[in-house]
Amino acid sequence: MSGNQEQYTLGYGPASTAMMATRTAQRHAAFLLPHLKPGMKVLDCGCGPGSLTIGLAEIVSPGEVIGTDLEESQLDLGRTEAARRGITNARFGRADIYELPFEDDSFDAIFISAVLANLREPLRGLNEARRVLRSGGVIGVKEFDHGGDLFYPVAPNLAEGLDLYHRLRRHNGHDPESGRKLLGLLQQAGFRDSAATAVYETFSGPEVMPQVGGVFAVLVNEAFAEPFQRLGWATPEAVQRIAQAWREFSQQPGAFYAQAWCEAVARK
Ligand SMILES: C[S@@+](CC[C@H](N)C(=O)[O-])C[C@H]1O[C@@H](n2cnc3c(N)ncnc32)[C@H](O)[C@@H]1O
Repeated sequence: MSGNQEQYTLGYGPASTAMMATRTAQRHAAFLLPHLKPGMKVLDCGCGPGSLTIGLAEIVSPGEVIGTDLEESQLDLGRTEAARRGITNARFGRADIYELPFEDDSFDAIFISAVLANLREPLRGLNEARRVLRSGGVIGVKEFDHGGDLFYPVAPNLAEGLDLYHRLRRHNGHDPESGRKLLGLLQQAGFRDSAATAVYETFSGPEVMPQVGGVFAVLVNEAFAEPFQRLGWATPEAVQRIAQAWREFSQQPGAFYAQAWCEAVARK
């Protein structure tokens, strides 16, 4: 790691990337869409695998969307998917949110999803985003808030896994309850006309839940086994019990999981 690159909490293994790639702009960025118009120039900051960037590009066409991220591997996924879908108005480039390689007032709109919660200095990131937004331009930010997540039923091993995950986020300097703070952050960064809301992404039923449990069981191994053990927080056996708890949770007929997300829009 160098410069502003931070310790990621989730990492970018196949399971976490696949989960992000299922997000669509129509659903995940619905709160921002009423503010977008064809012809706009949009920045998708921390774009990950680019599914949202590409969706936004379709919406503002013939305008342009630039997806930026620190990870070249993620940008490559975006480029490949854009080419596959014949999208020519989405571009991808490496950029750190703390030092965006754009002139002041370059964009009509900025979208930032699931990035601020992965930063140690989210306000610094928002200040830099504000610099490259034109006066009167719109920003849409979205973040999870694990303090609002709903799980039922919660077995002790699942509860232990969730506690350790939140502890790891805090250990890495990443706020597990950042969603509820978006409005205040936008105001601190000097944005005006800010408004926030919260939504749930829900998972239930025999079609969906076992799939979700399987993905999270893989994620436990992909992203958490190493840090939990390195930090002395869990033995390899305990990590396997946590992964198994996800599978068992998701196979119960009444299993319910709802992820809390907060969304905010504001203007420069
Ligand atoms: C959880 S992913 C979200 C991806 C996408 N925005 C979404 O909502 O599906 C967070 C992304 O932010 C990127 N990221 C983290 N720190 C960053 C930084 N300082 N500058 C730019 N991107 C960053 C990561 O590489 C990762 O792709």
